[in-house]
Amino acid sequence: MKLSIYRYEPETSAKPRMVDYEIELQGERMLLDVLERLKALDPSVSYRRSCREGVCGSDAMNINGRNGLACLTNIRTLKEPVVLRPLPGFPVIRDLVVDMTRFYRQYYAVRPHVIAHAPPPERERLQSPEQREAIDGLYECILCACCSSSCPSYWWNPERFLGPAALLQAARFIADSRDDDTDRRLEELDDAYKLFRCRVIMNCADVCPKGLNPAAAIEGLRTQIVRRSF
Ligand code: SF4
Ligand code: FES
Repeated sequence: MKLSIYRYEPETSAKPRMVDYEIELQGERMLLDVLERLKALDPSVSYRRSCREGVCGSDAMNINGRNGLACLTNIRTLKEPVVLRPLPGFPVIRDLVVDMTRFYRQYYAVRPHVIAHAPPPERERLQSPEQREAIDGLYECILCACCSSSCPSYWWNPERFLGPAALLQAARFIADSRDDDTDRRLEELDDAYKLFRCRVIMNCADVCPKGLNPAAAIEGLRTQIVRRSF
């Protein structure tokens, strides 16, 4: 299998370059397995990975021009040479490893946890089946950053627009019946950049490996904010 991989090793070279590899496959099915074989041949190739099954979100990368998870990408779907680059719009630390600091800061900024003002009940906080269903399509996010990294509005305003991933999380806690902080959450998001910079380009929904739709969640937040003002 032919691969062309973005290599950036700041300790040896100031400039990134594309490096070609040809690997003899031994029954590998997923792109991450191919990278693991390559890593055994050339230990200097760097990327993140952990779970190997689409749960941890750490092996997000740009695969033939489209963001995705290497562990969920079947190599039979890929044209060769397979071109691998780090997630666009993120600072590169080394090869396919990007700096996620800003991304996590934005996640933290939406206070991604239930905030309940009432004293806790003796046992768990109960939800009806309908209340539980209200967070379907929101809670499944694995924070891989494929969406934010494919969003032009995020590339242009990475410090001011929160990006689709963080906004999906904001929507997730606003939709949660156990959370009492909806008003303050919406107030915090009511900003020309933080939320309203989304231009509904829809790349986020197109690339999400979990089939989520951050653009729809953002639209829902905008509607709630507009309704509040009447
Ligand atoms: Fe990844 Fe999808 Fe979550 Fe975005 S919404 S971070 S693409 S899982
Ligand atoms: Fe965890 Fe791919 S290695 S999502």
